[in-house]
Order: sequence, then C-alpha cells, then structure tokens
Amino acid sequence: MSILRFTALFAAALVPLDCAWAVTNGLALTPPMGWNSWNHFQCNISETVIKSMADAMATNGMRAAGYQFINIDDCWQTSRDSNGVIVADPQKFPSGIKALADYVHSKGLKLGIYSDHGTGTCQGRPGSYGYEYLDALTYAAWGVDYLKYDNCGLPPGDSTNVDDFKMAAALAQSGRPIVYSLCDWSFSPWMADCGNLWRTTADITDSFSSAEANASANSPMAFLAGPGHWNDPDMLEIGNGGMTTAQYQSQFTLWCISAAPLIAGNNLTNMSPQTLAILTNSEAIAVDQDSAGEQGVQVAGNLIRQTWARPLGTGFTAKALALVNAGGNSSFTVNWTNIGLQPGPATVRDLWTHANLGTFTNTFTTNVAAGTTVMLTVVGTAPNPPPVGTVYLTDLQAAYAYTGSGAVALNKSAGGNALTLNGVPYARGLGVNAYSGVEYRLAGLASRFQAQVGVDDEAGAAGSVDFQVFADGLKIFDSGLMLGGAPHQSIDLDVTGVNRLTLGVNDGGDGNASDHADWADAKLIVNSATPSAPLIPGDLSAAQGNPIVLTWSAVPGAAAYNVKRSDSATGPFATISTAILPAYADTDLLAGAAYYYSVSSVGKLGESSNSTAAGALACAALTPPTALTASFSGTNVVLNWIPVPGATSYTVARATSSTPYATLASGIAAAAFTDSNRTPGAIYDYAVAANNGCSQSAFSTYAFASTNVTLGVWRAGGSVILNWPLGTLQASTNAAGPYTNILDATLPYTNTAAMPQQFYRVRVK
Ligand code: GLA
Repeated sequence: MSILRFTALFAAALVPLDCAWAVTNGLALTPPMGWNSWNHFQCNISETVIKSMADAMATNGMRAAGYQFINIDDCWQTSRDSNGVIVADPQKFPSGIKALADYVHSKGLKLGIYSDHGTGTCQGRPGSYGYEYLDALTYAAWGVDYLKYDNCGLPPGDSTNVDDFKMAAALAQSGRPIVYSLCDWSFSPWMADCGNLWRTTADITDSFSSAEANASANSPMAFLAGPGHWNDPDMLEIGNGGMTTAQYQSQFTLWCISAAPLIAGNNLTNMSPQTLAILTNSEAIAVDQDSAGEQGVQVAGNLIRQTWARPLGTGFTAKALALVNAGGNSSFTVNWTNIGLQPGPATVRDLWTHANLGTFTNTFTTNVAAGTTVMLTVVGTAPNPPPVGTVYLTDLQAAYAYTGSGAVALNKSAGGNALTLNGVPYARGLGVNAYSGVEYRLAGLASRFQAQVGVDDEAGAAGSVDFQVFADGLKIFDSGLMLGGAPHQSIDLDVTGVNRLTLGVNDGGDGNASDHADWADAKLIVNSATPSAPLIPGDLSAAQGNPIVLTWSAVPGAAAYNVKRSDSATGPFATISTAILPAYADTDLLAGAAYYYSVSSVGKLGESSNSTAAGALACAALTPPTALTASFSGTNVVLNWIPVPGATSYTVARATSSTPYATLASGIAAAAFTDSNRTPGAIYDYAVAANNGCSQSAFSTYAFASTNVTLGVWRAGGSVILNWPLGTLQASTNAAGPYTNILDATLPYTNTAAMPQQFYRVRVK
C-alpha cells in the first residue's frame, strides 16, 4: 500500500487542506499496543534503555499478547544539521535511530518516535514546524513505524489543525506506513479524520483519580472510534508505583472497555509478576482488540461507582462490562435492557478470574469490593430488528444511547419540549445534547434512513453541533457545523445491507452548552423481512502498471470486498483476494497481459453482485532507482542514480523541508539530472522514479545536496566575482577572521572596490 499511496499522491500534487489520510492508511485497525518511554523514564532515555525494553517485550510474553510498538518519547533529539535533518542525541543514541529501528525490528517489534508540531517539543528539543516533509522522509528512511506528534512550542498565530494536516500529508508521501498519533491534549472534531489515534485528555499521572478522569473525558466521543481511528485517553501507568494492584487492574479494564491504545508506560525490565499479569490478561486484551472496534460508554453510576458497557463483534449479542468501584464495598446490578440487550437469559463470564459465572435472567448482581473493578462479558439476546414498514427509531431498542447531559430524550427535545426545528414541530425523533452517540441494529433490513437534523428552536441562536451518521462504522453523512437558528438539514440516506447504524453529534468546538440537537422525524424505510446484501461497489478503476492498482467507492454495510479477476472482460471472474479497504494492488501479474477485475461487497448479511468490470494492462515490474546522490555544481544541483533495468526514462520530484514533493522533470533519458532552478538558501529533497512506457516505479529514497558549500571566486577585469549555492556571504581582511556579513551580497556577488587583500566565506545556518 505504501508504494501505491506514494505514487498516487505525487500525481495528485497533494495540498494538505484537509486530512482524510490516516483513516484510509490501513494502519491501526485495532488500537495500537506497545510501550512508550515517557511515563517512567521521561528524558532519561538512551539506545540502551530502548533496546532493553524491546528485549523485555519480545521475551516476557508481551509480544505474544499483542504488544508491538516500542515508542521513544521526547528528548531523543538535540538539533538539526546544516541540511535541516533532525539529529539524535549523539551521547544517548550513538548508533543512531536507523540502527535502533533495525534492532527493534529484529525483535519482531516496531519502532515509534516522537515530535511536535511546534518549533520546539515540550522539553525544548527541536520540533517539526517547517520541517514536516523532511522529518517524515527521515523517519521513513530510518524505518520508523509510528509517530506521536505533540503540541508544545507553537509559533504566534499557529493553527494546530493546519500543522497536523501537514504532517499527515508528509507521512503519506514518505513511502512508509507510519501510524499517526496526534497529541493535542484535548479533542477537536477534525482529529477523527486525521490521526490513527488522537489524545482526548491532559497528561495522565500515576493516580487512579487521573486514570478515571481521563477515561471519563475520553468517552463522549465514543461514536467516533473504529478500525484505523481511536480516541486516546493517554498511556498506561500500570507498574509505575502510584496505584494499588487493583487500581492498575481498573485502569487496564477501563482502557480495554474504551478501545483505547494500550501503551505501557513502566519499566518492562523489572516489573512485578502482578504488573505483567495485568498487562498480558488475554481476555481483557481481546476486548480491547475486538475487531468491530466499538468504544464502550458509561451506562450507569457516578464518579465513584461506574458501569461501563462496550458492544463486541457485530451480532449485538455480546457486551463487555466494567463495574468500577472507587468507593466502599458495593453491590452492582446490571439490567440487560440497560446495556442494549433484551430481557431474558444471558451468560456472564469474569475476565479477571477467568471463570464462567453462569446464566442470569434479566439482571446480574455482584458485590464489587472497595477500590476494585470487575470486568465481564455478557452474551444475551440482541435488540429486535426493525419490522417491515416505516419504523421510527424511537420504537426500536438502541444498542447504546448516550448524550452530553441526562438521558437521550424520546420524542422530545433535550430540554423536554416538543422537537422543533425552524418553527416546525415534530412528533417523533430523538433529542440529544452534544456529545451524543446512539446506535441501532438494522440487521440489513432497512433501505433508507431519513431525518431532519438541526439545533432545536429552544436553544435560540445558541448551540453549535455537527451531526454525523455511520453505517457499519463508515461515515455516510456529516452535516458540518450547524448553529442555533440556522436552517435545519434533511437527511435521506441509502442504508441497504447495513447492519449497524450509529448517530453521532459533535460539539461545535465551543463547549456543549445549549447544544440541543434534534434527530427529528428519524425513521427507517424497511421493505423486506429478509436481509439485503450490501450495495454493489461503484467507480471501480484499474490503473495499468505493476502492480495493477484497483480502487472503488466504499460501500456502507460492507465489512470487506471480494476482489475478482478474469482474463476476459465478460468473465468468469474468480476471487483472488479479500480487501478491507476499498483498494487493492495486484502483484501476481505477467508483463504484457491484460487483466479484468470486478469487486463485490461482503456484509455480515451477504455478498452483493459483482461490480462493473474494469481492465488494465500489466507492465514489466520496475524497481525504484537506487543510490541517488545530489551535489552542488556551482549554484546547480546535479543528481545521479544507478540506472534501473528496463527503464526508458525517469521522473524527478523535489520537495523542501516543509512543502510536498512535486514533479520537477519527467521523460529524463539518462540516469542524471541537473536542477538549475533553485531558490538560493532553500534546501531541497529529491526523489526519482523509473518509467518504462507502461508504468512508473515507486520513488527512490530521497537525497539532498549537502550544504558544505563551495565558494567560487574569480576575477573579471578589476572586479572579484563570487558564487555560492546558498547561505550568507561573509568577508574579512584576515583568513582567521573576524568575518562579517556582507549585507548586500546577492548571488552572484561582484566586488568592484579596490582593496589590498580580502578573504571570503559562506555561512549556512
Ligand atoms: C506532553 C505530552 C506527553 C509527553 C511529554 C513529553 O506533555 O502530552 O505525553 O509526550 O509532552 O515532553
């Protein structure tokens, strides 16, 4: 995928005006699991520390339990070199980050790194502001797999989303799959389309009140979580010493219920058996990593005694529960109807004692000891599917329903009045307050979802919200920002074959006061009692090359797509693979052959018919050029690379440290190119791709011209003419200096003044 993405983005001349990258990069399909240096080591890190954590994780059972990432946090970096490339602390990381990545990879693990969208990190190390593209390319060249992107050192007038979009675009161009972890300390709605995970809270501390507060602050946006994109309540503190074993167990339970990233923050080399047992509880981890990716929400209680429930799988029958007791001994009762199940029998299992507790009818009651948490799974009866006809949502049992204050109001506004939008009252519908999530089982039976959405008239001109609709986790509607008093919007969405409908309301970014959001007249059209398969995928296109790259439109209700191939446009088509994302790269090709493709949607409830076919020619495979070098020749930069067998021409692309690659020249016959169109002082990165008249290879590893600049000096009549590629010209009457800047030195510089002896040098900052 990385190669494809890289090539495609070159073609699109990507400008980071928005950020729909991370959600489609195919990474973090379950919440990332790993370790990070910050909580325990802060700045006391070194390659020895990082390697010892990788050694521990690979052998102590954590890797086997699913932990993957070894993430270096702040303080690994000290400066930038004269080319702008970020430099690792030479004392602490003498072998460099590339060698460290190789080591971590050799342990079957992945390496994460840390930077910041401002000019400096939270510990005053260099940030990535103005170096986004160079840093992303550098991380990729080192073999980095994960980037945590922090929020300190912001220049005046800085805008977090613009910076974070830029890094997303830079990572997309880096040619390497890199998980993107935003760390801006609180949630903003744009993050859900940008990061694979995004911090929703302030920094955690090693106390249960902090863990509990972060879990609570992380839960309003639960409806946004799903494969590839996760709310992040910060890292684990388990084993760091500030909480009891029971409290650490509670943190782990809350994080697993919340589909949170499981990033351990302790010293993995000397932890207690209790700590390791918590971190590797396979039943709790299975909840965290549940492939449906739904986040749990608090369904009852207060800050002291909380009941949380998380839907598991796609059947609406299984839930994970957390019963959290921060107070004295207490009896908890869970009512099945309160966790999205029907009354009747349900089986209960305890995930910390690993015991089946039995079958219970309608409710389950247990004692939860003071300061402890019980974690359960409950398997019972799913809500009834919608009957044939026009079905108001308020007549269905929700799988879950939460709202920013109180309970979701049925057939009333959040303020308890008749639902009213722009003067028109509605008898039916839901009244909620941002943030809110409500989910229903459609079971593939409905064909349309219809509603009128807006801020209820009772809020007057106050209130600002954003309505979103998800079909099996795929966003199929986003209202954009809607303000009180503004015209409402009418929704009529195709939900054919959709199993799970989720209605979400984001706060408009100004706090949730007066955010009274109406899903007025919300209803389903159900024409059949038999589930439909998802819609047939549309817009299938196949791009010639090697691989042949297929893309098509995502289908609501499709959990996967069958990719089918034939050597004839009319088939028969045989399935060659199953894709999760609506894209596929076919590498099993014979050069010169034509291939035809068709795709079908596979839902929980069946498979669609095949799409319209698309065909493409397979080309000879081309490897990217290697050994690219860039060096100055006067003010020009000369690029050289090793010719690629089978290539008939080359394409050169150029980026600066903070702007994306754009094609500089194509159709270049030789394995060399001279860039004579440079802005003095700019540092450019170059990459080259090979072409063979049929397709283009991926781009090479980047190269940039060293700024160890050569100063050209020559005489012309009575003048001295100086030429240099970039930097500030300085002069002195002594070779040893002192040198001072020549203020009017522009390229080339001509000195016509008569003087006995003059020395020049160029200074590059
Ligand atoms: C911020 C982040 C923390 C950590 C530190 C490092 O506070 O939120 O998680 O990365 O910076 O300086």
